Amino acid sequence: MKILVLNGPNLDLLGKREPDIYGHATLNEMMTAVEERAAGLGVEVICEQSNDEGALVTRIGHCSGEVDGIVINPAAYTHTSVALRDAIKACGVPCVEVHLSNIQARESFRHESLTAGACVGQISGFGGMSYSLGLEAVVDYLRRKDTK
Ligand code: DQA
Repeated sequence: MKILVLNGPNLDLLGKREPDIYGHATLNEMMTAVEERAAGLGVEVICEQSNDEGALVTRIGHCSGEVDGIVINPAAYTHTSVALRDAIKACGVPCVEVHLSNIQARESFRHESLTAGACVGQISGFGGMSYSLGLEAVVDYLRRKDTK
């Protein structure tokens, strides 16, 4: 089983970006932790990041057949991107949305997620652990689907 872990804009700045909200770990450190969790679950992960909405849309749109599931942190595009929502719907690959911060406890413009409705579910507020929880969730979803 292969899972794409996809990161949106400004997440390449983790470590130095608003550490009071996002912590001190870099994206590389967080992705290393996800890779370790993936090894424990016996699955393969591909970790990627882009600041470009179009690149993310294209990546999602073309991942069917290559990966079995997606863990996505769409970052700011969560709250703005109909294109990302449509790409997640269109690709037909089960997707779990994750956020480091609890978006419901922040500014009101972060309370709405345009992308979550296209996903299997959303995990928000557990820092870097949100990625591992998201990975577990999508793997569990896929394994349960396989045994049906
Ligand atoms: C975020 C939350 C978003 O509102 C914000 O724009 C981000 C990061 C998170 O992981 O907490 O860039 O997705």
